[in-house]
Amino acid sequence: MYKCAIVLAAGEGKRMNSNTPKMLHKVCGKEMINHVIDTIRSADIETIDVVIGRGAEKVKKATEDRKISYSLQEEQLGTGHAVMCAKEFLAGHKGTVAIFVGDGPLITETTVRELLDYHEKGKFKATILTSTMNDPGKYGRIIRSHIGEVEKIVEFKDCNPYELAVKEINSGMYCFNIEELLSSLDKLNNNNAQREYYLTDVIGILKNQGFKVGAFDVPIEEITAVNSKVELADAELIMKARINRKHMENGVTIMDPNNTYIDWSVIIGKDTIIYPGNILQGTTIIKENCVLYQNNRIVDSIIQNGVSVQSSVIIESQVGEETTVGPYAYIRPESIIGKHARIGDFVEIKKSTIGDNTKVSHLTYIGDAEVGSGCNFGCGTVVVNYDGKSKFKTIIGNNTFIGCNANLVSPVKINDNAYIAAGSTITNEVPKNALAIARARQVNIENWVVRKGHSK
Ligand code: UD1
Ligand code: CA
Repeated sequence: MYKCAIVLAAGEGKRMNSNTPKMLHKVCGKEMINHVIDTIRSADIETIDVVIGRGAEKVKKATEDRKISYSLQEEQLGTGHAVMCAKEFLAGHKGTVAIFVGDGPLITETTVRELLDYHEKGKFKATILTSTMNDPGKYGRIIRSHIGEVEKIVEFKDCNPYELAVKEINSGMYCFNIEELLSSLDKLNNNNAQREYYLTDVIGILKNQGFKVGAFDVPIEEITAVNSKVELADAELIMKARINRKHMENGVTIMDPNNTYIDWSVIIGKDTIIYPGNILQGTTIIKENCVLYQNNRIVDSIIQNGVSVQSSVIIESQVGEETTVGPYAYIRPESIIGKHARIGDFVEIKKSTIGDNTKVSHLTYIGDAEVGSGCNFGCGTVVVNYDGKSKFKTIIGNNTFIGCNANLVSPVKINDNAYIAAGSTITNEVPKNALAIARARQVNIENWVVRKGHSK
């Protein structure tokens, strides 16, 4: 049977108090609207229409790679009106439309599948995704008849005291028979407390025509909507726990899941151990047997097997097998660090390649450089890659030894096996196997202190 989905995302989200449209706020690194779209897709609903209005252009931009269609709701006259705006999307189809809300990112694939299944098996004209809450707050209430059948939904602002006491609530997500939905939308009016065309009124309209309406109950966690920054943080907590649980089930050790922040998109291999305070973002891949000690931020990077990282930042870079990074290293975009290498404390690497077995142990800056394998950098080396106007490249061969506190003024080349004496400022190419010393010779002036009268 034909099935499709509509996501309502035209509302303003005033309570977010933000310049960003509500749907575009991120939960674990992905916009809420994209969580909803991706979840619907994962449940095998291919055809998806998003109703946009407030911030329409921004919402379109953020969802442009998701192969969906859009309907425009120019004025936000209510959820029923929003679906009316998607009439063209529905027209001519027979089957089921599932409706979701762009601010409900916690819905799961399993629930979407079960909802559709329940709807189709029960031969309902509409099925409401419901939940039961001790404190039902401002959610619409599910009103049942004395024999327990769903009669209608009453909005919080329109409830009488008896209705307010009902604990079964409307999630704002449903399945409808497309033809019955379309003919019911024509019957909606806005005679209610909010002067809006409520989608919820379709339920009463169908029921009054003698049609069967179903209710499918799920835990509140799945349907929690985000209307404020406080609720955004609540959603983040729930999503974070789900993501961490998935990794733990896949064999990742997470010492303190409450203090581990992993974006939805990150991939982690088994037997990797994650200490508290790690933030793993974007397209990051952490392979197997890594140890991420405390407080790292790793963004869009690939970390190979057996790497250990401590208190460091790695952005858009790659780190090879068995390499150690940190504490307090900063690996900036477009860097590639080899295998069995060491990037130690207070080392910054920018847009550089570092070969296998090379050790850059302390207090060093390497920018725009190609460094070979088996090299050793002394403490305090600086690649001087910028003259105030342009950046230049430095090439350092294999098995070189760079003494402490050397400046390598780019563009410069140091050939294989060369040694640089400590404290040198290197401005010319250093040949293979050579020792370069580029500093003033030491002069001792005897008795200078006494002559100057400085002695105590
Ligand atoms: C709605 C339901 C309520 C349910 C609650 C669950 C109605 C009338 N009420 O209330 O029963 O308990 O969701 O969260 O449907 N939207 C539009 N265009 C509009 C109005 C809203 O696209 O004109 C979109 C919003 O962007 C949002 C969704 O519809 O994604 C829900 O709208 P919202 O105003 O948050 O509805 P609630 O008052 O929360
Ligand atoms: Ca809402």
